[in-house]
Amino acid sequence: MSFADKRILLGVSGGIAAYKAAELARRLVTAGATVKVVMTKSAAEFVTPMTFAALTGQTVGTALFGPGVHPLEHIWLGQQVDAVVLVPATANLIGKAANGIGDDLLSTILIAATRPVLVCPAMNCEMYENPAVQENLARLRERGMWVLEPEAGALACGAVGYGRLPETDSILAALGRLVAVRDLAGQRLLVTAGPTHEDLDPVRYVTNRSSGKMGYAVARAAWRRGADVALVTGPTSLPDPFGVEMIRVRSALDMLGEVVKRFPSCDALVMAAAVGDYRPESLAERKIKRGSTAALQVTLVQNPDILKEISALKESQITIGFAAETHDLIEEANRKLTEKNLDLIVANDVNQPDSGFAVDTNEVTLVAADGEVVSLPLLTKDEVADKILDWLVPRLTPKSPEDAGD
Ligand code: CTP
Repeated sequence: MSFADKRILLGVSGGIAAYKAAELARRLVTAGATVKVVMTKSAAEFVTPMTFAALTGQTVGTALFGPGVHPLEHIWLGQQVDAVVLVPATANLIGKAANGIGDDLLSTILIAATRPVLVCPAMNCEMYENPAVQENLARLRERGMWVLEPEAGALACGAVGYGRLPETDSILAALGRLVAVRDLAGQRLLVTAGPTHEDLDPVRYVTNRSSGKMGYAVARAAWRRGADVALVTGPTSLPDPFGVEMIRVRSALDMLGEVVKRFPSCDALVMAAAVGDYRPESLAERKIKRGSTAALQVTLVQNPDILKEISALKESQITIGFAAETHDLIEEANRKLTEKNLDLIVANDVNQPDSGFAVDTNEVTLVAADGEVVSLPLLTKDEVADKILDWLVPRLTPKSPEDAGD
């Protein structure tokens, strides 16, 4: 995810998870952001300001007053950035923010801040569940701050429960949505990804080389741009995209069932899955033994074409398919566009080494039902996902502000 040209204020308060803020600072800088870190006095007990200064290339704010501190810094720091993120947000910082107390640089910045704030609480589970902390978090939410729920697990203090800082990837994803142009706000996107597994017996299946990367990239990008996203995915080894509703399936028939169920309530379907066209005619109850025959014959029967089935249910939804081809790219793409009643097909030549299955890049051509054909250069799958969504946005019916609210 790119944070190019984004300015982020990273507020670090004094909990053990402060060391994880260093990793976040590093990832943000790598993604192109300018990161200004402000630390509380307690945070500096866990990690030194020098660590953040070295990672961000910026001076680190630690004091309201003193030599080298501009008297208006506490006002403009929360106003001249794209977003503020508090990692970790301790019970104390949350309490001060909820009550408008400014007794150090970070808490005073939060009173003056006019930019979106992402609060990432991390603390012992009893502290987190304390009603005072919960009430303070509820007040922050009411005032429009975005509170990222901590995760459950083993905590540094030895307890097990809610209080762990979410993974850096999750914080980055949430922050990405906070600073993005949310041109898909309120839109419901249904995305499919990955291969299908067509079982032959309890240990074997027929599949293909799809990694799921393209569909996951579309789901991530759509969520970042404000959409509600459901991802129907075949088996993959990819991490769940943050914020996305995950529906896991194995076979083409399972995928068909889930897509048909969800299609009527979606605004657009992006069908990136490499659906198995055939499945074994019968599923052996027991493992098939090698036996004495030199050859094993398996009869494969055709799976339904999910997009064709969906076409009968289509009302105002926009449907986007993919065509991975080895020959006659544009002719095949056009054939599928018509046969599957699609609005857009994303065609790629899988003969190219940097394009198609399992790699992080893709060189695609967008072929639209209105005859428009756009050839894109070699891009990352994240960039391709954004190009597809750029095509989609102006074709969707805009949502009312109430529907588009986060
Ligand atoms: N697709 C589908 N159901 C299937 C097969 C494919 O919905 N049973 C979808 C894919 O998700 C993709 C598009 O149809 O969006 C094109 O898939 P592709 O495998 O390229 O096309 P096929 O229809 O299988 O055609 P062929 O095997 O002849 O290339």
